[in-house]
Amino acid sequence: SFAHVKQAPEDAILGVTVAYNKDPSPVKVNLGVGAYRTEEGKPLVLNVVRKAEEQLLADRARNKEYLGITGIPQFNKLSAELILGRDSPAIAQGRVITAQCLSGTGSLRVGGEFLATHYSGPKVIYVPSPTWGNHLKIFPLAGLETRTYRYYNPKTRGLDYEGMIEDLRAAPNGAVVLLHACAHNPTGVDLTQEEWEGLRKVIRNDKQQLPFFDSAYQGFASGSLDTDAFAVRRFVNDGGETFIAQSYAKNMGLYGERVGALSIVVRDPSVAARVESQLKLVIRPMYSSPPTYGAAIVSTILSNPALYDEWKVELKAMADRIISMRHQLFDALKARKTPGDWTHILNQIGMFTFTGLNKQQVEYMTKEYHIYMTMDGRISMAGLSSRTVPQLADAIHSAVVK
Ligand code: LMR
Repeated sequence: SFAHVKQAPEDAILGVTVAYNKDPSPVKVNLGVGAYRTEEGKPLVLNVVRKAEEQLLADRARNKEYLGITGIPQFNKLSAELILGRDSPAIAQGRVITAQCLSGTGSLRVGGEFLATHYSGPKVIYVPSPTWGNHLKIFPLAGLETRTYRYYNPKTRGLDYEGMIEDLRAAPNGAVVLLHACAHNPTGVDLTQEEWEGLRKVIRNDKQQLPFFDSAYQGFASGSLDTDAFAVRRFVNDGGETFIAQSYAKNMGLYGERVGALSIVVRDPSVAARVESQLKLVIRPMYSSPPTYGAAIVSTILSNPALYDEWKVELKAMADRIISMRHQLFDALKARKTPGDWTHILNQIGMFTFTGLNKQQVEYMTKEYHIYMTMDGRISMAGLSSRTVPQLADAIHSAVVK
């Protein structure tokens, strides 16, 4: 029977949308889930995505056959080139195995299970504290013991670089280290290029650890695809082993199409075919093969120079609108003389601002102002618009002075 089954709590992020949907208020604002909205507060389907869809629809030769276990080969090649660069030596040397997976989460889960089965090092993964809540659920279920390393310093609202290095030095040699490629979620705090280089030396030279990058925001953080791939490329270009999970949810707005890729970069090309063969054994019993549609859209855009250029323009526009929201919110708090230093709103990177507001303040803002956000004080800047900035600033102000 199932009489013993307990009511589970809502997801810390997706549950915010559930609560938002239940609120009848006409002024409610959802700043919970990291999903881009236009100035009008509407979801955005990129123009290039519409164009790619038209091309796909017009092509009567297309069918609905199963894909292979690792998805569309052209999609895999283009995805590896996008994150590693077209001139990547690792690709040229046949050291990259890529499998189309179900967005970032699916790529992390498949990578995690592959490591739990085949990695010769300790089956332990270190994730930053704090990190995207789903990391803490994905990896234990994949079979990896999950521990944290220090990352964020609430006092400075910045990076705890010394703490991070200390914790990774104290971690076992060979442990897996989860790194956010850019635009750290939820804090919006990233390493500088010098800090990335210092970290790389510790991971590669001192500890022989295995970096596993979660790249959910390429192009979304800075507006430049290359800038946001800096850290991944720095690690891959030193010739060492690297895992990368890519998502097209944010940067192509393909959230619900569930399109992403797992790339495994090996040191020795002679192991690549064997690794790929085992990767298929992880995927086949999990979901057999990935869905076609989203990956076909991505392949169409990435393989067509005109669409690719148009995508970059649209991507930059999304990144710029988010940056402009940071300035508007900062200015609105300044105008209200809200107590505290709010410069972190300007300095943090990517989709989110980690405000420093506590759970009670968040609950108050939801109750009194119909502003929905996660309990850790994270707001999705991508959900904000010029229209809703004053409401958010009023809410923050009154939560702070209360
Ligand atoms: C988020 O952190 O809001 C996004 O990555 C969406 C999600 O799946 O949690």
